Amino acid sequence: MLLTDIDFKTLKLPVHPQALSAILQLDDHTEMNFKELDNLIRVDQAISAGILKLANSSFYSRGNKVTSLQNAISLLGFKLIKSMVVLLTTKSLFELGKYEKFRVHVYRHSVVTAIVAKSLAASLGMPHLQEEAFVAGLLHDIGKVILNVCDRTRFIETLNLCIENGISACAAEKQVFGIDHAEVGHAAAIQWKLPELLARVIAEHESGLTTPTAGDTDRMTLVVQYADTVAKKAGYGIYRSEVDEVCARVAQKLGLTPALRDANEKNQKARIEADPFFKYCTGLVA
Ligand SMILES: [Fe+2]
Ligand SMILES: [Fe+2]
Repeated sequence: MLLTDIDFKTLKLPVHPQALSAILQLDDHTEMNFKELDNLIRVDQAISAGILKLANSSFYSRGNKVTSLQNAISLLGFKLIKSMVVLLTTKSLFELGKYEKFRVHVYRHSVVTAIVAKSLAASLGMPHLQEEAFVAGLLHDIGKVILNVCDRTRFIETLNLCIENGISACAAEKQVFGIDHAEVGHAAAIQWKLPELLARVIAEHESGLTTPTAGDTDRMTLVVQYADTVAKKAGYGIYRSEVDEVCARVAQKLGLTPALRDANEKNQKARIEADPFFKYCTGLVA
């Protein structure tokens, strides 16, 4: 398969890519964007209900019951609401993989990567990019979702090749499809006009070439690469011995202290399983 064989405009997806792009392009808190976010949420009953449920959940509730979208946005903040809308919007994309291997190795892997990336962005002095880190973690493997839509049987074959032969996802995909999920995801990001930062993370998260010397985009790619390995080490995503090497290399590039590495890597599985937000996300795509 060649990238040109995939017609991103006619792929049968439950989410209109333009809707996803519109949400992601709202990148500041101007009154105009605040209203647009409110409008985008309001037209979709499932998303409106999901946002209100989240605003009143144990992990986001600030005490008072939130009954309106406007209150939810002003209480939780524009950026957090935006990434929750992305989560609720892309839920139906992840639901396309209605089999256990997809749920664990693609959906739950993406959720854990998102949660770890967000927390790491805060620890690394990038609090202004926490929600971008969450979204980048959630969507970094979007190419796998697309490959699964293009040909589910062949995508399952790639997962089995990784599990049984211990080869990387990209190597298995190249063998079966002729292209890999980073290439497919990047092409989709360009077609769908997703933000530049996100497109770069999707394209480069498997390459390991990023150096920490440049700006936010390179650091974000490293944050997602690191979170990706932490998720795999915790059992969400396919673990291979190389994962430990990549994890250590990326941690070094990010300048993570041993204490910060321990905080992210030790007992991550137990911590993630006890995290009420992870439980909520798991319940979204059952
Ligand atoms: Fe990946
Ligand atoms: Fe991944």
